[in-house]
Amino acid sequence: MYNDIAYILIDKERLQNRVRELGRQLAAEYEGKNPLMVCILKGSIVFYADLIREMNIPLEVETMTASSYGAATVSSGVVNVVSKLDSKIIGRHVVLVEDIVDSGRTLAFIKSDMSNKGVLSLKVCSLLDKPSRRVADLVPDYAGFEVPDEFVVGYGLDYDQKYRNLPEIGVLKPEIYQSK
Ligand code: IMP
Ligand code: MG
Repeated sequence: MYNDIAYILIDKERLQNRVRELGRQLAAEYEGKNPLMVCILKGSIVFYADLIREMNIPLEVETMTASSYGAATVSSGVVNVVSKLDSKIIGRHVVLVEDIVDSGRTLAFIKSDMSNKGVLSLKVCSLLDKPSRRVADLVPDYAGFEVPDEFVVGYGLDYDQKYRNLPEIGVLKPEIYQSK
C-alpha cells in the first residue's frame, strides 16, 4: 500500500492526540444529553471507533450510508443516502461523524434532510476539513485537521475502496488515479 502513497500527511501520534482532544471536547459538550453519534459509512468507521472511545459519557451509536464518489477523486454532486434514521433522531441531540468535508455537498444534503425531522440539535464532527474545495454552505462544528487540496487516503478514507486500513493519513500519488 505504501508504494502508492506520495507522503504521510498525518501520522498515528497526531491522529491519536487530536482524536482524544475532540472526544474530550464532545464529552464535555454532550454530558447528560445522551447524544446519538451517527457514523457516516464507510469513510468514518476508523475515526468513529476511536472517537467514541474517547468520550467518557453515555451515548448511543447509529450508522448511515452516504456515497457520492464511485471510483473518482472529484465528488459527483449526487448524494446517495441509503439508510434512513428518521424515527430514531426525533428528540435527540445528533452528531454526524464524517471522515472529510470536501465540497460539503454530502453533509449539506444530510443536514437539510434531517433538520426538519424533530432533532433537538444537529452538529457535524469531521476528522478532516478541505475548505479550499467547498461548494456548499457548510462549516463543520468540530474538525480534526485542515488539509490542503490533495487526495488523501487512510484511517478510513479510500480511493476506489482501497487504503482504508492504512493507520496514517497519506497523500495518494496522482498517477494512481490518473492512470485509471
Ligand atoms: P463532499 O460531499 O464533496 O464534501 O465529499 C465528501 C466525501 O467525499 C467524503 O465523505 C469522502 O468519502 C469523499 N472524499 C472527499 N475528499 C476525499 C479525499 O481527499 N480522499 C478520500 N475521500 C474523499
Ligand atoms: Mg465519506
